[in-house]
Amino acid sequence: MENPAFNRAIRSFVLRQGHLTASQQRAIDEGMPRWGIDYQPQALDLAQAFGREAPKIMEIGFGMGTATAEIAAANPQNDYLGVEVHSPGVGNLCKLIAEQNLSNLRLIRHDAVEVMDNMLPDGCLDGVHIFFPDPWHKKRHNKRRLIQAPFIEKLVKKLKPGGYLHAATDWEDYAIQIMEVFSSNPDLQNSAEGYAPRPDYRPLTKFEARGIRLGHGVWDIVFTRK
Ligand SMILES: C[S@@+](CC[C@H](N)C(=O)[O-])C[C@H]1O[C@@H](n2cnc3c(N)ncnc32)[C@H](O)[C@@H]1O
Repeated sequence: MENPAFNRAIRSFVLRQGHLTASQQRAIDEGMPRWGIDYQPQALDLAQAFGREAPKIMEIGFGMGTATAEIAAANPQNDYLGVEVHSPGVGNLCKLIAEQNLSNLRLIRHDAVEVMDNMLPDGCLDGVHIFFPDPWHKKRHNKRRLIQAPFIEKLVKKLKPGGYLHAATDWEDYAIQIMEVFSSNPDLQNSAEGYAPRPDYRPLTKFEARGIRLGHGVWDIVFTRK
């Protein structure tokens, strides 16, 4: 693994070793040649990658991919590009794609920041989902948070005018930060008055339902590109 001491970039994730089950490995071996897109620092033709013209929505950090698969299954009219660094999650989502025979989902196993910088043409996306990004809640780790102004400035350029940027978090101070970052971007406008009600397409996760029962909050922040 990379030695962080030699790694100048501050990343939003830490790659953990191992914990890949045999079935996840098999799902990766069988699934990635079919649904995976290799990271390469050159522009990606999304219409070609999905084999059709349809709205394209990128999800950053899909975790185990359960919500991703559910959203793709419920919205066959859209194409979804999932980007995740965590191999067990990539394996799990490959399994879900195979089981449910989903044709509108493609995966990139790589840092979404580099994917955005080096593979996505400007104006290529109709939407971006960032659901429960790592909160990095210790003060000294806050700098690792994915959603910060310079990143969002670049990400907004990848959206078509009218395209949306949807983040959800269960950490109040991260919700406040996201709201500030989105609100201060001159190219974005809020789709709601303040926080948005959870859009129907975002499924309630088990973890979230439990949190809500315990009285914890979840904040959805949905802005569109002007
Ligand atoms: C707290 S988890 C949430 C996962 C999922 N969205 C959910 O709601 O259950 C955040 C995920 O983002 C991924 N992640 C963080 N930074 C990333 C990056 N720069 N590129 C791709 N994935 C990233 C992590 O590997 C992790 O799986």
